[in-house]
Amino acid sequence: MSEGIFCIRVYGCQMNAYDGDRLRSAMTELGWEESSDAFASDAVIFVTCSIRDKAEQKVISELGRFRPMWEKDKKPKVALLGCMAQRTGADIAGKFPWVRVVAGPRHLGLVPRSIAESMNGGVFMHLDGDAGEKMDLECAPVPKVNPHKAFITIAHGCDQFCSYCIVPYVRGRFASRPPEGVLAEANRLVNRGILEITLLGQNVNSYGKDFDGDAGNYRFASLLRDVAAIKGLRRLRFTTSHPLDFSDDILDAMKSCPNICPGINLPVQAGSDKVLREMNRKYTRDQYIDAVKKIREALPEVGLTTDLIVGFPGESEEDFEESVSLIEETRFALVHSAAYSPRLGTPAAKREDQIPDAVRSMRLARINELQSRISHEINHEHVGRVMEVLLDDAAPKGKGLLQGRTVTDKVVLVKASAEMTGRFRSVKITGASPWCLEGRLL
Ligand code: SAH
Ligand code: SF4
Ligand code: F3S
Repeated sequence: MSEGIFCIRVYGCQMNAYDGDRLRSAMTELGWEESSDAFASDAVIFVTCSIRDKAEQKVISELGRFRPMWEKDKKPKVALLGCMAQRTGADIAGKFPWVRVVAGPRHLGLVPRSIAESMNGGVFMHLDGDAGEKMDLECAPVPKVNPHKAFITIAHGCDQFCSYCIVPYVRGRFASRPPEGVLAEANRLVNRGILEITLLGQNVNSYGKDFDGDAGNYRFASLLRDVAAIKGLRRLRFTTSHPLDFSDDILDAMKSCPNICPGINLPVQAGSDKVLREMNRKYTRDQYIDAVKKIREALPEVGLTTDLIVGFPGESEEDFEESVSLIEETRFALVHSAAYSPRLGTPAAKREDQIPDAVRSMRLARINELQSRISHEINHEHVGRVMEVLLDDAAPKGKGLLQGRTVTDKVVLVKASAEMTGRFRSVKITGASPWCLEGRLL
């Protein structure tokens, strides 16, 4: 018999996608049935993000939509989880009585039971600072979202305290998962047919720094090599790296294990030394450029992407131009750009020299226009080449099209039937846009 119907909505980064997948698996194992219709569900689970104000506003407006149905039927009950829940969940539950479970990212293990109990009434809060224990969810995700690809979080939290960022406050201190647990999970996933794994952390290259004694010699490169050695794993990716300690041993592992994909997201955040210093990024523009040079020498085919914030407090026109020139010179495959959003409680939000909205938007548009030209040029250089592609999903638009990824994580659209999903195929690239490639199966 079904325990009830649940629906899950995931916002934010891939770490949330991983948490969402695990919750989905845990709920299904407990006898719940999943639906995509929130209004037809008994429980709706929100896995939320706090990185920018917009991410939070979206969830607030979604939550508001339950009012009429709640007033009529006392349904559905909502579980508010993730970073935003940790930051403001208690207040939100005070405003929206249908929010019955609130849990931060480090309390996921308590969630399935609390959802079940909330069906009989009561409100359940599991937040950092509460007396209750922290509990991770010990449950490998069922590869349901995509049967060919999966995420594994290898380290929680972050200790970097970049001056604009909310993550250390909501995800807590940096804590690496013991390698045994990560490896067991990776093995289980590969045995179930997963072909590609992405290792996740806010700062993966610090993995293991927090292990004591001899265990401290086991670092990110060691984990990469051990996961890559799992028989049947075709592709191994990781994100995100911090430029500060992208060490040679990681590049050595990438060079010597053919299934580690040559794709690196190396967030730069700003091009000016003044802004980098005020962001507390702990590297200079030149150090960043040297890291890129080292990576490109070791892995000439690397797909290098970055994150960039425009309109950080006090960012002058000259500072901004340094971000523009860095993007122009480095020629990233992709730039995840964002306008600075003040986060309450972070040092940068307290500054009085905030940049006006209109200026932030203009700078963002300028970066996006520049990067779209560069991405288009880079993608165009691929036309005529033959590339190996993992066909992993239906294309979002266009009938009879499948979507695949190259080793460097570029999206390729090809005409192919649905049975081809989950296969590696050689594809001849026939066209390019700023966002993706088009190709023909060989
Ligand atoms: N740990 C990674 C990124 C984590 S958050 C790193 O060190 O870069 C993902 C991205 O969100 C960041 O790279 C940054 O570009 C963006 N971001 C974080 N805080 C932000 C804020 N307050 N306003 C705008 N963008 C922000
Ligand atoms: Fe945020 Fe900086 Fe940590 Fe990345 S490294 S999560 S930007 S504090
Ligand atoms: Fe957002 Fe939390 Fe990820 S703030 S970006 S969901 S770590």
